[in-house]
Amino acid sequence: MSTPSTPSIHNRANPFKARITANYSLTGEGSNKDTRHIVVNLGASGINYVPGDSLGVIPRNFPRTVDDLLPHLGLDPDTTVEQPTGAVGLRDLLINQYLLNRVSKKFVKAVLERLPEGGSSTVSKKQQLAEIVGNEEAFDDYVFTRDYTDVLAEYPVSFSATEFLPLANKIAPRLYSIASSLKAHPGEVHLTVAVVKYHTHGREKYGIASGYLGHGQDLNKDEVPVYIQPTKHFHMPAADANIIMVGPGTGIAPFRAFLEERAIEGATGKNWLFFGDQKKSSDFLYEAEFLDMQRKGVLTKLDTAFSRDQAEKIYVQNRMTESGAELWKWLKDGAYFYVCGDAKRMARDVHQTLIDIAQQHGGMSPEAAKEYIEVTFAKTEKRYLKDVY
Ligand SMILES: Cc1cc2nc3c(=O)[nH]c(=O)nc-3n(C[C@H](O)[C@H](O)[C@H](O)COP(=O)(O)OP(=O)(O)OC[C@H]3O[C@@H](n4cnc5c(N)ncnc54)[C@H](O)[C@@H]3O)c2cc1C
Ligand SMILES: NC(=O)c1ccc[n+]([C@@H]2O[C@H](COP(=O)([O-])OP(=O)(O)OC[C@H]3O[C@@H](n4cnc5c(N)ncnc54)[C@H](OP(=O)(O)O)[C@@H]3O)[C@@H](O)[C@H]2O)c1
Repeated sequence: MSTPSTPSIHNRANPFKARITANYSLTGEGSNKDTRHIVVNLGASGINYVPGDSLGVIPRNFPRTVDDLLPHLGLDPDTTVEQPTGAVGLRDLLINQYLLNRVSKKFVKAVLERLPEGGSSTVSKKQQLAEIVGNEEAFDDYVFTRDYTDVLAEYPVSFSATEFLPLANKIAPRLYSIASSLKAHPGEVHLTVAVVKYHTHGREKYGIASGYLGHGQDLNKDEVPVYIQPTKHFHMPAADANIIMVGPGTGIAPFRAFLEERAIEGATGKNWLFFGDQKKSSDFLYEAEFLDMQRKGVLTKLDTAFSRDQAEKIYVQNRMTESGAELWKWLKDGAYFYVCGDAKRMARDVHQTLIDIAQQHGGMSPEAAKEYIEVTFAKTEKRYLKDVY
């Protein structure tokens, strides 16, 4: 197994202020996605990491999100507020510390309290909002698509800065699987970031961290607070062990790091990668790099599944099934199995496919195959490793 990264003075409470030195699209024309390759420069921080680790990023809002909001709150951008460190400008405080892309339920309840009682003939705004707040499902739906500006545009009431701040949630870090080997890129962390972007109630919104990384700062200029989140279990095996990697979409990130590390170390183990995304023409992330690794023999096998290139969906687990006999042989010969990406659907289906392969090619009963994958393979032999989110 690879050696864990050495602890750094930089952590969640004391992040390093890094600069982004490259930011380009990995998805091409016609893609439904905006997935980007981001290079973070670690400067003189002395930060180190190993493949399998993640980068913690503490994001901030686009200034325009705050500039849209302040007039709705009835607040001047030059307002200052007292903080433990002294007086600070409200605009900067909101940009850097408060999560503004999704309204909090406590804020909606405070708006409800401030709304005046309406007349008797029609349903008042207060009654309308009270009905939403009083119904759990409707309330969840209401806050899912709205930010503070959306709510105040529908229900105009004002707040002082000191009334507003306790009603908003603070920004929390987001994690990104590291997509580079430090040995291949000294002083850098590379990320594969799918930008979350959606349009609701007449306004465009971004995920706070993916929006910030993808489109929220100037290259080589702004400082991005980051820290390494070491992996507890997603380590590479010994250099002579064979590995099977399943990483559709952004799940590809740690496997780029694994392959770069194995290439630079001259590891003798074989490497088999399953990658999937929507369309080959626009979503084959790192296509040229992987084809080059295949040519050089670093990548022993590459199986791709482009889900929207034909009428029926083809996913990574369909490719696993097609190569079930060979995959089973790799596993029986000691290969490690890694999966990264979507936890809810993909990882669950890949898990079931592994069980099906053990049943079909290992001649096991359904119960024995489940026991083999979940207990012997995953827990006793520790050869089944997941980094899913
Ligand atoms: C260990 C780990 C590794 C990860 N690695 C990666 C990685 O390599 N690459 C990567 O891209 N991500 C990765 N992630 C996910 C990443 O941490 C973030 O969760 C992701 O980027 C979204 O964060 P955000 O701040 O941009 O969005 P947020 O501000 O958190 O907003 C996302 C929210 O927007 C909501 N939303 C989305 N669409 C809509 C819509 N149409 N209407 C209303 N709301 C909507 C979503 O439900 C979600 O709650 C990883 C996560 C973990 C835990
Ligand atoms: N847990 C989460 O909240 C979570 C996890 C991962 C990604 N995301 C979000 O989704 C967006 C894109 O993510 P991404 O680029 O990493 O890729 P992704 O959406 O995970 O999709 C990658 C590929 O996986 C396919 N897929 C869908 N269901 C699958 C299943 N059950 N089994 C196997 N493959 C399946 C997709 O096909 P089709 O789309 O054609 O069905 C696509 O070809 C981002 O905005 C990201 O933030 C959210």
